[in-house]
This record gives sequence, C-alpha cells and structure tokens, in this order.
Amino acid sequence: MAELNLVLLGPPGSGKGTQGERLQEDLRLPYYATGDILRAAVRDETELGREAKQYMDRGDLVPDEVIVGVIGERIASPEARDGFILDGFPRTTPQAEALDAKLRELGRALTAVLLIDVTDDEVVRRLGGRRTCVEGGHVFHVEFNPPRTEGVCDIDGSELIVRDDDKPEVIRKRLETYHEKTEPLVDYYDRRSLLRRIDGAAAPEAVGDQIRRTLATLRLEQDEAV
Ligand code: AP5
Repeated sequence: MAELNLVLLGPPGSGKGTQGERLQEDLRLPYYATGDILRAAVRDETELGREAKQYMDRGDLVPDEVIVGVIGERIASPEARDGFILDGFPRTTPQAEALDAKLRELGRALTAVLLIDVTDDEVVRRLGGRRTCVEGGHVFHVEFNPPRTEGVCDIDGSELIVRDDDKPEVIRKRLETYHEKTEPLVDYYDRRSLLRRIDGAAAPEAVGDQIRRTLATLRLEQDEAV
C-alpha cells in the first residue's frame, strides 16, 4: 500500500489534536504534534524547552530553525516509513519549504494537507473551555467533550489543567499569529493541489467522519494512479 504522509492544518483550537488522536488510532501511523513535543520539552526543562517557553507563553511561534530539525529527524525515522501525521507543522512558509526539501531528500512527498476550518469566535469558545491532561496531553472540553469525572483524564487518569497559553489574551495573540504567519499555507498547498478542506464547525464525530471520507477518496486516487 502507498505511504500516507498527512498534515493537519488549521487555527488554534480547530480540533487538530482531537482529530489527530483519532486518526493515529485509525491509521496506526506515528503522530507528531509540535505543540506536544515542545510542551514536553518545557516540562522536562531541556535546552529546546528553555528556548521555546518564552515564545509559547506569549502566543508567538518558536523560530523556524528550532522546530525544523525536530520534525526532520522524526519523519526520517524508521517508524515513519509507511507515513506520518503532522499536527502544528508546518506553520510558516519557510517551514513548509523545509518540509518539502526534507521529503525530496528522502524521495517522498506529502499525500494531503487537511485544513480544519473554524471561525475565530469558535476558537475562543473552544480554547476557553479546553482542559488538557498533564500526563499524555489528551484534550477535553468542559461543555463539548467533558471527561467522565471532572478534572480527571478518561484515558490515563491524570489531572486535567488549563494550558498556560489558553488565557484569553494569549488566545487572541495566537489567532493573530495564525492569520499572519500560518494562513498563507492554505494557498501554498492549494496551489500544489494538496489541500483538502474539512468543516471543523461540526461535532467531533462528524468532523472525524468527514476526514475518513476524504482519506478514502485519497486512497482511491492513489490506487488509480498506480
Ligand atoms: P499547538 O499545541 O500546536 O497549538 P495550536 O495550533 O494553537 O493548537 P491547539 O493545540 O491549541 O488546538 P487544536 O487545533 O489541537 O485543538 P484541540 O483538538 O485541542 O502549539 C502551541 C504553541 O507551540 C504555539 O503557539 C507555538 O508557540 C509553538 N509551536 C507549535 N508548533 C510550532 C511550529 N511548527 N513552529 C513554531 N512554533 C510552534 O481542540 C480545542 C478544544 O476544542 C478542546 O477542548 C476540544 O475538546 C474541543 N473540540 C475539538 N473539536 C471540537 C468540535 N468539533 N466541536 C466542539 N469542540 C471541539
């Protein structure tokens, strides 16, 4: 079967992490979420974490050169041989160009970029009610996807907290950063015929169904091309 190299693109809070977790289970492919990787580095107080924290706390992006190496190593690793799911990368045009160059070097290419589209107002509602588990980064929402027991992760039983960058003023800054630096990638990938639009405003299950249908169509296209 052909490899499946996917990117999840979309504003903060659009549901990339929620859908990424489900996709990882469905497709059994490695899932690389740069936000999770950076938060783990901050928690472990590594050099990467110390550098990234100041940017993340402000709602800014960490510098391209810091994150490009982190992802390059992962997609070249044996576990990503049959494909991968990227969440939160690329986020700038230089990052997208670096990803293209890395994949070219490996003799590979992206299969598709799934844009999960939601409005700014919806982002504010979602991030305001998000709760994240300290251990595995699993995400819940107090209203839209509540855990069975308040404050406790259904999956690993660890504590659920409000992320540092989910404060209202930082949410606004993250949205600005998205529109300025990441949204140009919609056009970048559309021009390369890689973009697939997903309506992120629907309930999580319905968004997941749309993604599954999109991937089924992609598989058919891949089979026809062989
Ligand atoms: P990152 O962690 O990637 O943050 P983000 O892109 O802002 O995305 P989020 O994790 O906030 O949201 P999401 O789309 O995953 O939504 P979720 O599924 O949780 O990055 C954090 C920071 O790291 C950045 O600001 C930057 O500083 C740095 N960084 C990361 N990557 C970088 C890069 N490549 N370059 C430079 N810097 C980088 O859902 C949100 C909430 O909504 C949840 O509560 C969920 O339960 C709920 N929800 C989900 N889907 C639905 C639905 N369909 N209906 C109702 N509620 C829903």
